[in-house]
Amino acid sequence: MTMKPMPTDHDHLLPLCRLTMGEMWRDEKSGHVVGCGDCTDPEFVSRLMHRQPPATLALQDPPYNLVVFERRSLSEYIAWSERWIENCERYLADNASLYVWLGADQDEHYQPLPQFMEMMSRRRFQSRSFITMRNQRGYGTQKNWMAVRQELLYYTKGEPYFQPQYTEIPKTLKGYYKKIAGEKVENLERSRSPFLRAGNVWVDIQQVFYRMEENVPICYAQKPLKAIERIIQASSRAGDVVLDLFSHAGTTLLACERMGRVSVTCDIDPVFAEVTIRRLERYRETGKPGWQRKHPFESDLLGIQPTVARELATSEN
Ligand SMILES: C[S@@+](CC[C@H](N)C(=O)[O-])C[C@H]1O[C@@H](n2cnc3c(N)ncnc32)[C@H](O)[C@@H]1O
Repeated sequence: MTMKPMPTDHDHLLPLCRLTMGEMWRDEKSGHVVGCGDCTDPEFVSRLMHRQPPATLALQDPPYNLVVFERRSLSEYIAWSERWIENCERYLADNASLYVWLGADQDEHYQPLPQFMEMMSRRRFQSRSFITMRNQRGYGTQKNWMAVRQELLYYTKGEPYFQPQYTEIPKTLKGYYKKIAGEKVENLERSRSPFLRAGNVWVDIQQVFYRMEENVPICYAQKPLKAIERIIQASSRAGDVVLDLFSHAGTTLLACERMGRVSVTCDIDPVFAEVTIRRLERYRETGKPGWQRKHPFESDLLGIQPTVARELATSEN
């Protein structure tokens, strides 16, 4: 039997969410916090971070000012970005890392990437790496290069912890020598790992799509768990607080749970704050990192809508 897609009407889901604007959910088991609110609001973020030690890692994935979200003028977008950056900076440890995912609109002079970088150059962060992650599926016509990139900016404050990460791509390049203590040593003998070290171009991470277990239907901008885990592993230690102001599918929270970090996160949309909490709960109950094709609110929707339930049960194709 093939299920019909669940109705995903946003307003439909609101009564099923446990948080309304301004509210927080605190996890008793691992100390994670999920808030529902606007991360540009200093008062809300101060409540979100209440009694937390400063974060050693902030991982931010804001809306990119492209088509998916409501688009602002460029200057408004940058002013808006500066507000959440300020709120993030306030709760970072003296030695901390900040990663920001951002888009660049190729039809509009790559906005907002250069303007965002310029705004960051006026703040107290050090720029460290401009990472590109390659998506498998791109967009665009045959008249241009297919757009497959995801930009990730890495900044630091002070001198934070950093642990190099390795891909699962084996090193194969032989015959590359370097003299060490007067002796010619071959590339592979010198290396710390038989695998390639992750550099600033990531080609080894699968973009999330509906056949993957980690897929969260209704979340249109979900990042791969592998990418988030790579960042967390590289730039934080066990027990550290990781701040993510744009939770969405709750990928950072789930990665923190799996890696023994404490996640403090929020989303302005109660539906995504709820999805974040549910994703953690589902992981704890089943070990599954997402819903694949199932709707995160499926059981509730079946419960409150007998007609939909009947339709689902009888639909076959
Ligand atoms: C690009 S998505 C984040 C994706 C996330 N990294 C993941 O893997 O699922 C951006 C999210 O930011 C949320 N958002 C937009 N404006 C916000 C604001 N002012 N405060 C908090 N969250 C906001 C949106 O509702 C959306 O869920």
